[in-house]
Amino acid sequence: MTNESAPVRRAHVTGWGRYVPEQILTNADLEKMVDTNDEWIVTRTGIRERRVAAAHETTASMAAVAGLRAIRTSGLDPDDIDLIVLATLTPDYWMPSTAALVKEAIGNTRAAAMDVSAACSGFVYAFSTAQAYVTAGLARHVLVIGAELLTRFLDYTDRGTCILFGDGAGAVVVSGSDEPGGSLGISLTTEPQGAYMIWLPAGGAKSPPSRETVARGEHYIRMEGRETYRFATRTLASTALESIRRAGLEPGDVSLFIPHQANIRIIEAVAKGLSLPMNRMFVNLDRYGNTSAASVPIALAEAVNEGRVAVGDRICMVAFGAGFTSGAVTIEWTADPARGTAGDAAVRPGDVNVRLPVDWDSVDPIPPALAALMSRPDPLHIPLDDVVPGDPEPASVT
Ligand SMILES: CC(C)(COP(=O)(O)OP(=O)(O)OC[C@H]1O[C@@H](n2cnc3c(N)ncnc32)[C@H](O)[C@@H]1OP(=O)(O)O)[C@@H](O)C(=O)NCCC(=O)NCCS
Repeated sequence: MTNESAPVRRAHVTGWGRYVPEQILTNADLEKMVDTNDEWIVTRTGIRERRVAAAHETTASMAAVAGLRAIRTSGLDPDDIDLIVLATLTPDYWMPSTAALVKEAIGNTRAAAMDVSAACSGFVYAFSTAQAYVTAGLARHVLVIGAELLTRFLDYTDRGTCILFGDGAGAVVVSGSDEPGGSLGISLTTEPQGAYMIWLPAGGAKSPPSRETVARGEHYIRMEGRETYRFATRTLASTALESIRRAGLEPGDVSLFIPHQANIRIIEAVAKGLSLPMNRMFVNLDRYGNTSAASVPIALAEAVNEGRVAVGDRICMVAFGAGFTSGAVTIEWTADPARGTAGDAAVRPGDVNVRLPVDWDSVDPIPPALAALMSRPDPLHIPLDDVVPGDPEPASVT
């Protein structure tokens, strides 16, 4: 990336794309794994099913498909991208960044690339980073991605967490220009007193991975559901409101909210807090569950492609997550919504190739509990060739 652009006043969304894995994990599937039931999950969360990445998929591979789709939607080429900012709490590796792997996979030769860590608020944080770069003239086009492979970090004996999360990726291209519209107001919050309400205890510098940490299941996501719920219902509406006010607008001026897809009751609380009807809230959590940093960009891409967004509409994307973090961005939509479907169709998963390490054998990535479920005759509609744990597969050399 070189600092060649002049500062501009606005950051516009010019491209959008999404990718979700084909494998579906239903509430009925989960009933066979933990003491839960469809009625409880639907009533308490609104979730009916979620997607599970196949054994050959990774956070980077899903991110690359969504990212390339967003680039195609924008009408740009991969090398037009100056910067890749990728939000995730489930990177392929601690290092290098997942963004670096995506850069190569989409065929970009010139962008700077980095990951952003703000859990489920990550996409909004990454978007705000992109806006700062383009308005400062440090980048003209930024690829912003939210991507998660959460099913490999879930304890499938913990019914409080394993029912909630799923896999997927969403992306936008943020481009700088002086045209009116685009991003109008951003609000970000971080409340570290909630830091241990959703966390992944082991694997970091405080508690490096060991046999003991694995035996204690400390490599899985842990959550205090009720406290998190309280934080979300308290903060989401206020963060959205702050971003709307910074945009010089009132909640009634926003035609569609794209809230983080964690729980239908939380989204209902946002609508109530803003005195707006539920038809102003886009909801797809029934099909994907909580995909953390991927949830807002997946929802945005679906909302636009389903015809819910028109040029000139004001939309507000709002998220909350571990940290505790929250973030909202209010934008005036300026891109032709019809472009999204063509952008999606232009990129197939096989069009991206995340380079694997040489001379390194990975262990099977599917958690044993999930693999056991997958190996049963009926529940998941997937080929089982490469998902049942067994001997490590040699990495393919490219
Ligand atoms: C997790 C969550 C759905 C739980 O719903 P809740 O209404 O708060 O439920 P509670 O935790 O109070 O549990 C109520 C009862 O259901 C039980 N229960 C919990 N999970 C269950 C499950 N999957 N199936 C059946 N029963 C379950 C509990 O054990 C409890 O039983 P008890 O009353 O006998 O003790 C809800 O707290 C939530 O959505 N929190 C926010 C989570 C979130 O958004 N995280 C992501 C942040 S980005």
